[in-house]
Amino acid sequence: MRPLVAGNWKMNHTPTSGETFIKELDGRMDKVDADVVVFPPFVTIPRVVEAARKTRIKVGAQNMFWKDKGAFTGEVSAEMLLDAGVEYVIIGHSERRNIFGESDELINLKLKSALKAGLKPVLCIGEKLEERESGMTMDRIKFQLNADLSGVDVENIVIAYEPIWAIGTGRTATPEQAEEVHGFISEFLGGGVKILYGGSVKPTNAYQLMVQPHIDGVLVGGASLKPDTFYDIILAGLKAFEEKR
Ligand code: PGA
Repeated sequence: MRPLVAGNWKMNHTPTSGETFIKELDGRMDKVDADVVVFPPFVTIPRVVEAARKTRIKVGAQNMFWKDKGAFTGEVSAEMLLDAGVEYVIIGHSERRNIFGESDELINLKLKSALKAGLKPVLCIGEKLEERESGMTMDRIKFQLNADLSGVDVENIVIAYEPIWAIGTGRTATPEQAEEVHGFISEFLGGGVKILYGGSVKPTNAYQLMVQPHIDGVLVGGASLKPDTFYDIILAGLKAFEEKR
């Protein structure tokens, strides 16, 4: 097993700065035995794919629409992403759910479309602060897994557990809190599915998170924007996985 370290750039990095990022990160990636994926904004993807071509860095998209083509202004299909050299796609990020009103039904359609095209979806799930505080965390997780994965073969899916209260807030779930939910998800899905943790992951907490038995990697937002910091998180993952072997 190798750690999967994913960088969700959100609405950051132009084509030019994205290319520079890949060159800088690749300069350090020599002996890195980890799966490393960056998720640039759509317009930045082609330059990043080009820069990453001869490296071990893989490229994902942050979103997609579920229809193949047609009159859907502003949207991008799975097939377009695949043709652009993308391997992974984030589906159902909490910012898509909460700012852009994505429903579990829509997320389910997107997952099926991504898999049909041959992309690897990273499905994001997680509870709100009030759900955690009222003891509803596992119910929320179970609801999302049932709704989002209805009729979906989980074999080629990655799950990202991202407690909403921990995203971009500097407030990380403790390794124990994260492990509890990861263990629950793993059991719910019958094992064998990679489960990433996301929410204020930094070089200082990445090791403690990834050393947990059911944490298979991390989905990093803010701390993935600079190659140095992102690389330190990759190193933390390697150390944690060395320990878990
Ligand atoms: P953050 O974002 O690391 O900035 O909290 C994580 C995410 O939203 O995937």
